[in-house]
Amino acid sequence: MSDPVLAIETSCDETAAAVVDGRRILSNVIASQAELHAVYGGVVPEVAARHHLTTVNAVIDRALDDAGVRLDQISRIAVTRRPGLIGALLVGVATAKALAYATGKDLVLVDHLHGHIAASWLQPVALDPPFVALTASGGHTRLDLVHDYASPQLLGQTLDDAAGEAIDKGARLLGIPYPGGPGLEALAREGDAGAFRFPVGLKSRGPGFDFSYAGVKTALLYAVRDLGDDGTLARRADLAASYQEAIVRPLADRLMRAAEVHGVPAVSIGGGVAANGRLRELVTQGAADRGLTVAIPDRLLCTDNAAMIAAAAAFTPVIPWPDYVGEDAIATAPPGGIAA
Ligand code: KG4
Ligand code: ZN
Repeated sequence: MSDPVLAIETSCDETAAAVVDGRRILSNVIASQAELHAVYGGVVPEVAARHHLTTVNAVIDRALDDAGVRLDQISRIAVTRRPGLIGALLVGVATAKALAYATGKDLVLVDHLHGHIAASWLQPVALDPPFVALTASGGHTRLDLVHDYASPQLLGQTLDDAAGEAIDKGARLLGIPYPGGPGLEALAREGDAGAFRFPVGLKSRGPGFDFSYAGVKTALLYAVRDLGDDGTLARRADLAASYQEAIVRPLADRLMRAAEVHGVPAVSIGGGVAANGRLRELVTQGAADRGLTVAIPDRLLCTDNAAMIAAAAAFTPVIPWPDYVGEDAIATAPPGGIAA
């Protein structure tokens, strides 16, 4: 073992810790709070922060145990600093700072979106640049040109809702509990994706790489209203399949087009929506048709996790002990989207 990093992620509703050595994941522990939030239909920030606080130490202990690594063997600590729910982020940042300070270790403050892109750097995917990265999560939807993992360049992003947000809101209209993605995908498998024609955002906008999901969400709302309760119940699977298709197809199409326009030989996907089987299928097929290399990380590395934070930390400046004591969590993304 050469250089094991302990990483902590608490930006939303997963309390996660991982030990990663170079590109090799030694452990990847994720304690999801999803069930706690399901009764409210979405993440309640205060509930998330409190739960991170009660869980984070046990999750870190488990990550070290699973990796078979002692804290004194860890070379540095990485933590998600931004963007996310501020109370949730604070728990991770305060924990990481305290642990690093008390053990004399250096700290790396990581951007969550950088983590989603860097997940493709990890084994067994281990993709090397150049490539175009699609990141589609609950809070963000974007394409980046990656010539260097240290500095992804934004090509386009959603102008309104994120893909995951549209999925969660649409799922809710169909009576699927939060988080809607897995439930919508399961229901969609039983339906016909061509049954309803939902609009594809920005289809006519030419060469850009931006996304829009407000229109498709509204179209589902109107369809459900027109069908009424009984009609919606009878057509739930068709609605789910058509809606899922209207969300994931533009993601795959623009990813392929961006790779062609920028002349890169590879594409990657990341973020919670990249766990979607239909998106994975479309991207695999699209890449095969064009002779592109495709990086599709394991589903657990697409949804929020700490291994991806360790990966991004490999491309983020290290803050030496104890210069980080005044550093803080930040709720927002910086202009341009990713802070290195
Ligand atoms: O990256 P992530 O875990 O958290 C954020 O950074 O937001 O993404 C969460 C999003 C949620 O909107 C969730 O419904 C969606 O990813 N998601 C999925 C699937 N699994 C999770 N969407 C579609 N299909 C899935 N299988
Ligand atoms: Zn995420």
